[in-house]
Amino acid sequence: MIPGAEGNPAPPTLYTVGMTILGIAGSLRKTSYNRGALRAAQELAPAGVTVEPFDLNGIPLYSQDDEGTPPPRVTEFKARIRAADAILFATAEYNYSIPGVLKNAIDWASRPYGDSAWDGKPAGIMGASVGATGTARAQYHLRQCCVFLNMFPVNRPEVMIANAAQRFDSQGNLTDEPSREHIRKLLESLAAWTLKLK
Ligand SMILES: Cc1cc2nc3c(=O)[nH]c(=O)nc-3n(C[C@H](O)[C@H](O)[C@H](O)COP(=O)(O)O)c2cc1C
Repeated sequence: MIPGAEGNPAPPTLYTVGMTILGIAGSLRKTSYNRGALRAAQELAPAGVTVEPFDLNGIPLYSQDDEGTPPPRVTEFKARIRAADAILFATAEYNYSIPGVLKNAIDWASRPYGDSAWDGKPAGIMGASVGATGTARAQYHLRQCCVFLNMFPVNRPEVMIANAAQRFDSQGNLTDEPSREHIRKLLESLAAWTLKLK
């Protein structure tokens, strides 16, 4: 120990002061695998890190005509994004891309021009699909959106849960232990990345 530093407290980290991650699932399905993956993330978050889900239900279709008078659910969504230290997306894959429900919500929160709630936010990306690539194509489209949104998605680990029907139970709960371990590592990586960007 450095002489004279005996009484100095350890430097604060987000683990010690607390960190909030807003979890957004790109599916409205009741027993959605992606909603289930977010529930798993809530359970697997490291100490001091809280994953709070935001349900995209109730966000209407975006129209630029309504930007000046956004619906209350959109106002709430933007406030929740701004209040969070980081974002965790759990995206489904529809037709090799991001489901419309997620893209629609991303678009709402990015507007009006110059008032995007996403600006500068660190993000983690994961996804589950019944296909063999586990939402890889949707995730890379989402990363492309992050470029214009000026978001900072953590690169690794990539969490792509393939063949989801074999990894979740009938209620959409993630039962596959290796997938849960990947999510745990993503959350650790996202927390460290968020600290680095602060
Ligand atoms: C419109 C539509 C398009 C889909 N396209 C894909 C696809 O491109 N790749 C894939 O792996 N699964 C695809 N699927 C199957 C989804 O992986 C599956 O419905 C999955 O359960 C969606 O995620 P969720 O359980 O979170 O709702 C598609 C499903 C729908 C309804």
